[in-house]
Amino acid sequence: MGKSEPFDKTLLLHFDPRQGILVTSTLTLEIVSPGEEKKRKVTFEASDLPIAIGSASDCKVILADPYVSKLHCELFCESGKIFVRDLKSTNGTKINQVQIKEAAPLNSKDEIYLGKTTILFSIQRKSEKIGEIPVASLSEFEGMITNDPKMHQIFRLIHKIAPSKETVLITGETGTGKELVARAIHQKSGVRGPFIPLNCSAIAPELIESELFGHIRGAFTGAEKTRMGAFELASHGTLFLDEIAELPYSLQSKLLRALEYKEIRPVGGDAAKKVDLRIVAATHKDLKEEARLNSFREDLFYRLYVLHIHLPPLRERKEDIPLLAKKFAQQIQPDVELAERALQKLQNHAWPGNIRELQHVIKRTLLMSEGEKIDILHWKFFDYAEKIEPLGENATLDEIEHYYLLRALRKCNWNKREAARMLGVANSTFHDKIKRHALK
Ligand SMILES: Nc1ncnc2c1ncn2[C@@H]1O[C@H](COP(=O)(O)OP(=O)(O)OP(=O)(O)O)[C@@H](O)[C@H]1O
Ligand SMILES: [Mg+2]
Repeated sequence: MGKSEPFDKTLLLHFDPRQGILVTSTLTLEIVSPGEEKKRKVTFEASDLPIAIGSASDCKVILADPYVSKLHCELFCESGKIFVRDLKSTNGTKINQVQIKEAAPLNSKDEIYLGKTTILFSIQRKSEKIGEIPVASLSEFEGMITNDPKMHQIFRLIHKIAPSKETVLITGETGTGKELVARAIHQKSGVRGPFIPLNCSAIAPELIESELFGHIRGAFTGAEKTRMGAFELASHGTLFLDEIAELPYSLQSKLLRALEYKEIRPVGGDAAKKVDLRIVAATHKDLKEEARLNSFREDLFYRLYVLHIHLPPLRERKEDIPLLAKKFAQQIQPDVELAERALQKLQNHAWPGNIRELQHVIKRTLLMSEGEKIDILHWKFFDYAEKIEPLGENATLDEIEHYYLLRALRKCNWNKREAARMLGVANSTFHDKIKRHALK
């Protein structure tokens, strides 16, 4: 696809899961400027880009040089390469004595000239074997339990990259733990802001822009008050964009702008607002394929595909099935034991709804025993649970709703969009209902 394949060696940050290698970069600027006695050295991470340079106080590199404009130039990244852009400065910007017109690529050891200031630029890349990163506990990590080596690699990666502000894309089938991973990244990041989840498939398309960027009073019918969007609510924290593949195409370029410039424009407003937050996105779809089919913007795909975490389905980590089953059962009835045959039966199931489906089956099975003490959770119970309890003659409306929601989820292999379509309700309604019935 396209010109710029990800993971070429010019990329500033990337993780290669096959080789288990994480590459990180540090950008160093050595500044010699009038008014500063000594040479000044500043370092940045890839996630700090773009870096504005000028005399204004909101620049990332502030210069006292009187020949430098307020917003003089900026360093930015495109397809893994770093560029300098002149921001219509009065005296212009040069790289190695050559005046740049608009933007020009920057290589390690290049000198940038602005006013009477010289900046020596360099990049240091570091490769690390992910398996060597120490993590206190691998069997239980931020509420996730597993014995699977692929999952352990993921925990190491999260531990390592959480403190940076870099965007992370999480993929995996429904119920594999994408939201738990997103929360773990936030927890481990140590940032002081909140974790704000926003499910792109659960919001009506015409409201998404306002949900993301907020709106000002009177921006549209019903906008009685100025309201902050998720970008601002997640300030100094993490914005979790769930089901990102469902973001309407027309909004994808606005999201890309917000990610690149860390700037948003509320609906109906003129002024742009600076934002400072970490973005974590998730999807159960193959985003690369969506980009190939032109239903997802290729440039946004590359912006999100920097650090990619893919969660394996439960059937590819069969060892985890008994572990998780015991945990879920004991959460409901602490002294319950699971019979060997029951465990085998669970391990042979394909689990299209993954961990959530397993959790659900265990819960239903135990609750169906109606308080009667079960010493050993026998495989027969699972048989019963799999068939879904038939609706009795005196079923309440609530029970009927539960029954049909579960049946639709099963029929659609736990694909919530398809299940909503099958029942003829809006995605948002479906999401509310499955949440209320603890099916999510
Ligand atoms: N490793 C794990 N250990 C324990 N519980 C887990 C683990 N992974 C997932 N779960 C539980 O499984 C359920 C589904 O997880 P989560 O909501 O994170 O999945 P998801 O990938 O976001 O699903 P969806 O695509 O349907 O939104 C949650 O109740 C979560 O707590
Ligand atoms: Mg989720």
